[in-house]
Amino acid sequence: MHAIATRGLTKVYKNLTKGNKRSLDELSIHIREGEVFGFLGHNGAGKTTTIKILCGLVRQSAGEASLFGIDVRDPASRAKLGYLPEQPYFYEYLTPRETIEFYGRLRGRTPQQRAEDWERLSLLLDLRDIAEQRIKGFSKGMRQRIGFAVALVGDPPLLILDEPMSGLDPVGRRSIRQLILRCRDEGKTLFFSSHVLGDVEQICDRVSILSRGKLVREGRIGQLLGEEPHGVEVVATGLNEVSRAPIAAAAREHRTHEGQDVFVFDEAAAAQEAARAILDSGAALESVTPLKQSLEEFFMKEHGATAAGAGA
Ligand SMILES: Nc1ncnc2c1ncn2[C@@H]1O[C@H](COP(=O)(O)OP(=O)(O)O)[C@@H](O)[C@H]1O
Ligand SMILES: [Mg+2]
Repeated sequence: MHAIATRGLTKVYKNLTKGNKRSLDELSIHIREGEVFGFLGHNGAGKTTTIKILCGLVRQSAGEASLFGIDVRDPASRAKLGYLPEQPYFYEYLTPRETIEFYGRLRGRTPQQRAEDWERLSLLLDLRDIAEQRIKGFSKGMRQRIGFAVALVGDPPLLILDEPMSGLDPVGRRSIRQLILRCRDEGKTLFFSSHVLGDVEQICDRVSILSRGKLVREGRIGQLLGEEPHGVEVVATGLNEVSRAPIAAAAREHRTHEGQDVFVFDEAAAAQEAARAILDSGAALESVTPLKQSLEEFFMKEHGATAAGAGA
């Protein structure tokens, strides 16, 4: 069973003056139990909309979504869910200790369990020094730690975090990353959104990239980061017309650059064959290089492409 599953999930926000807005378009994703899953996309891509549907805060226009096999329209689906909103709201005159206590009561925790929650969470999130201070006046980083603690009240096995690192300084970002890994080590499933690649690269098992409401890419991080090559480039000098033609025909791409022939092949075997043909023809083989595309390049290209597409 999947911790999170969506099929054809669609959200159209209705607006009489500006017209309807399709913010999420047929999203299908599956997150396995125990996975750290990064949900990437630029601002306005539809990440928060998706998360709000999963948490039961917004109703989808079409499609299905479930948590541990229970439809998100059923409140029972949220029994195992901890949620950190994009902009967590706190009662400014409560202290961190009172806030955790308050959410413990909401979650139906017994007094004994609430005391245990505070022991565990205040230590994990380093809240002890500020336990009795009012939240009013706390920095973004401190608020984010309290928000994370609130999400962990009752020790839920699934955490959905909306941009947990945005607005934090590098130290704050790192501490949230460490918390995510720590939760993973405890066997939890983590689903978090981000518009910053660096946040997901280091800690996610898989990511999906959302652009203008549509899923544009999904996969293991190694694959998207380019640890697995996206082709092999072969460079030669001194090729004559006759030997060049069959090599170019077998290649995915061929261009000439400063007197060199540059070929790109999908498969390593085809690249090796081309290298042999180049040597056999008496030309010089300059290099054979696996091509890697970083997620950053992909992300930028994807965004550029959609922005250009929208402008046309
Ligand atoms: N309540 C709403 N009413 C109308 N449009 C909305 C509403 N919430 C979000 N949107 C629009 O839906 C799109 C996706 O927004 P959102 O899900 O917040 O994206 P992200 O979290 O990826 O930045 C945006 O164009 C946004 O303006
Ligand atoms: Mg958002």
